[in-house]
Amino acid sequence: MLEDYKLKMPGAVFGGEHALDKIVELIKNKYKKPAVFTDKGIEAAGILEEPLGLLKESGAQIHLIDEIPSEPTYEQAQKTIDSFKESGSDFIIAIGGGSVMDMAKLSSIAATNDYTVKDLLENPSIGRKTVKTLMIPTTAGTGAEATPNAIVAVPEKELKVGIVNEEMVPDYVILDGRMTAGLPKKIAAATGIDALAHAIECYTSNKANPFSNMFAMEALRLIFANIEKACEDRTALKEKSSMLLAAFYGGVAITASGTTAVHALSYPLGGKYHIPHGVSNAMMLLPVMKFNKEACMSELAQVYDAVEGKEKKNDEEKADWVIGRMSEIIKRLEIPDSLKAYGIGQEDLEELTRSGMEVQRLLVNNKKMVTAQDARNLYMQIM
Ligand SMILES: NC(=O)c1ccc[n+]([C@@H]2O[C@H](COP(=O)([O-])OP(=O)(O)OC[C@H]3O[C@@H](n4cnc5c(N)ncnc54)[C@H](O)[C@@H]3O)[C@@H](O)[C@H]2O)c1
Ligand SMILES: [Zn+2]
Repeated sequence: MLEDYKLKMPGAVFGGEHALDKIVELIKNKYKKPAVFTDKGIEAAGILEEPLGLLKESGAQIHLIDEIPSEPTYEQAQKTIDSFKESGSDFIIAIGGGSVMDMAKLSSIAATNDYTVKDLLENPSIGRKTVKTLMIPTTAGTGAEATPNAIVAVPEKELKVGIVNEEMVPDYVILDGRMTAGLPKKIAAATGIDALAHAIECYTSNKANPFSNMFAMEALRLIFANIEKACEDRTALKEKSSMLLAAFYGGVAITASGTTAVHALSYPLGGKYHIPHGVSNAMMLLPVMKFNKEACMSELAQVYDAVEGKEKKNDEEKADWVIGRMSEIIKRLEIPDSLKAYGIGQEDLEELTRSGMEVQRLLVNNKKMVTAQDARNLYMQIM
């Protein structure tokens, strides 16, 4: 029997070659003092000028919050929220990757004095949105522009933890491929693999359902067809725009379904060792997919049929093709596939296993049960 399922989507999503222009329509005569969340990398990339110019054209008085660190801790998140609260802004615009968007989303539900980020970590459901949000992603990407999640690092636990509250699903999203055009290859590759992981995990998740499957499958089709060119060719705007759309679809799939053991086991790698989110997922992706192959054979075969489907193969051959294609992408994009480069070795194995097993929120979504011994074996494969 099919269990109940549900999907909450952003209020309005604008895509296309000049989707950025929509800013004027969204702001003019509605919001006077929007806060723009961004970071120094975005500023340096020179992609803030156009949206800030459009905001000025809309008559808005901008409050810029541009000190957001990559993959912030909950304490850094609180600092951002405090500075937002002082600004008296009436709208939130995030221009950036997952780190920036997550801080913007958290601020939208933490702008009252009733609770802190620490309280939200303990009980996410107390958060109430008081300020509307517009997300303009610049990586492709986390899909954070579609999800009810905000991820913060919790140093005491040596983990990254997801705060999940539907109120954080953004009100507006602008998907403009030009915002990702200047992404350095390394970041484009890691964030592209994050989107790939979201899609394949959601499709093979215990929580998969017709809504999430549709978005996850289309994300996979777009990613398999476009990821290499989008990362390697700075002028490939069409492929970059396809990746941006795929990342959004991946985010929608997360909202409707949920990621599995790849994300669960990658959280300690980010939380303790500060390995970028996309890179840690790229490391865990193949070991977990091989571990899951038997349990997810028919889903992986369906992915082959949808994205390739040229040759007659049995299900196992189809599943092997999908795993092989993911391996080919990771190799070609030269994403680190071993913990050695980060100075992590056998002595860290027990701690990693303990932390990874704490992420039961996602491990329960994995079709094949993951025991502590399984987690240990999976980490060993990338040492
Ligand atoms: N909320 C969610 O649903 C969700 C989902 C997945 C991941 N995440 C979280 O998102 C964070 C990672 O986000 P991310 O992978 O997008 O990276 P990021 O936001 O941390 O950005 C990484 C770097 O890329 C730079 N950058 C971003 N866009 C650029 C551009 N167009 N040109 C040049 N430089 C650019 C930034 O300045 C930064 O230095 C993690 O904390 C992760 O846990 C959240
Ligand atoms: Zn992710």
